[in-house]
Amino acid sequence: MTTTVTDAPGRTRRLTGFQPTGRLHLGNLLGALRPLIRAQDTTESIALIADLHAMTMEHDPASVRRFTLEQATVMLAAGVDPERTPIVVQSQVREHTELHYLLECVAAHGEATRMIQFKEKSAAGGPIRLSLLTYPVLMAADILLYDTTQVPVGEDQNQHLELARTLATRFNTKYGPTFTVPEGVRPDSAARVMDLAEPTMKMGKSLGTGQIGLLDPPEVIRRTIARAATDQAGRVRRDRENQPGVTNLIDILAETTGRPPSDPTSYAALKREVGDAIEALLAPLRARHAELAKNPDFVRRVLADGAEKVRPIAAATVRRARAGIGLLN
Ligand code: ADP
Ligand code: TRP
Repeated sequence: MTTTVTDAPGRTRRLTGFQPTGRLHLGNLLGALRPLIRAQDTTESIALIADLHAMTMEHDPASVRRFTLEQATVMLAAGVDPERTPIVVQSQVREHTELHYLLECVAAHGEATRMIQFKEKSAAGGPIRLSLLTYPVLMAADILLYDTTQVPVGEDQNQHLELARTLATRFNTKYGPTFTVPEGVRPDSAARVMDLAEPTMKMGKSLGTGQIGLLDPPEVIRRTIARAATDQAGRVRRDRENQPGVTNLIDILAETTGRPPSDPTSYAALKREVGDAIEALLAPLRARHAELAKNPDFVRRVLADGAEKVRPIAAATVRRARAGIGLLN
C-alpha cells in the first residue's frame, strides 16, 4: 500500500527532465519536447533543466552554463509556453539540494551502488564523483519536490524512477504522508529516435555520430541523412530486427509528417523525404531560436519566473519533509 499526499486528488503534474550536457537533438524533440508541448492545454507540466546532474561527471563549467541557456532557448523556440509550462533550472530552486539531503537519509548505500547507470558510468575509468553515486537520489528529489504524478522516462531512467517511488513510499511510511508517489509514463516506441549512423542505439547527446542537432544548419542535416545507415535489402519497410536504419527513417517520417514513404523501393527517395520533413520541422524552430538568442536577458527572465512560479510548491514539500523527519520548521 502506498500513502500519498492527497492535496489534489485526480490532479496530474508531469515533470520532464533534461541534462544540459549537450545540444538538444531530434530525439529530445520528438520523444520529450513535442509531447510536452502538445499536452500543454490539458496537462500541467514542468520542464526541468537538471544542471546539477550535469556535474556528476567531469564537466566544463562554461559548457554547462552555455547549454543551460541554449536548451531553455530551444524549448521556447520549439513552442514551450512558459506561462503554462514553467522552465526551471534545477540549481535555481535551492529546495532540490535540501530535499536531496533529506532523501539521502532514507536511501541505502546499496540502493545507490546497485544502479545500472552508476555501474556503467563508473566503469568508464577515471575518478568517480560521489555525486554520480547519489545522482538518482537527487533525481528523486527533483520528482518528489513538485508532487509530480507522471514522469516520462525512457528505459535508461526506469530504475531511477523506481528508486524515487521506493524512497517516497518509505519516507511516507516512516515519517507520515509527505510525498506523492509518481508513476512513469513510457513514450511510445515510434517516438524513440535511433542514431542515424548506428541505428541500434538511441540518438543521444553524446553517443554516436548520427545525431541531428535541433540547431544544425540544413546542409549538415542533409549530410547526416545522406550518410544514414541502411542495408542491402532494397525494400522500404519496417523491420526493426533486420532493417533498423530503414525502420528508423520510416518512423522519423511518420512522426514528422504522419505519412508513409511514397516509394517502397528507393532508399534515396526515402532519405530525400526524411530530409524535407526534418527541414520543414526545424526551419521555423531555427528561425525563432535565432531571434530569441539575440535577447539572452529575456531567456534568463523566463527562467527566473519559472523558478519563482514553482518555488512555493517546492517550499511546501520541503516543509512537510522537514517536519516529518524531525527538524524544526
Ligand atoms: P540524452 O539521452 O540525449 O542525454 P536526456 O537523457 O537529457 O537526453 O533526455 C531528455 C528527454 O529526451 C527524456 O525525456 C528522454 O526520454 C528524451 N529522449 C532522449 N533521447 C531520445 C531519443 N533518442 N528518442 C526519443 N526520446 C529521447
Ligand atoms: N536523469 C535524467 C536523464 O539523464 C535527467 C533528469 C534529472 C530527470 N532529473 C530528472 C528526468 C527528473 C526526469 C525527472 O535523462
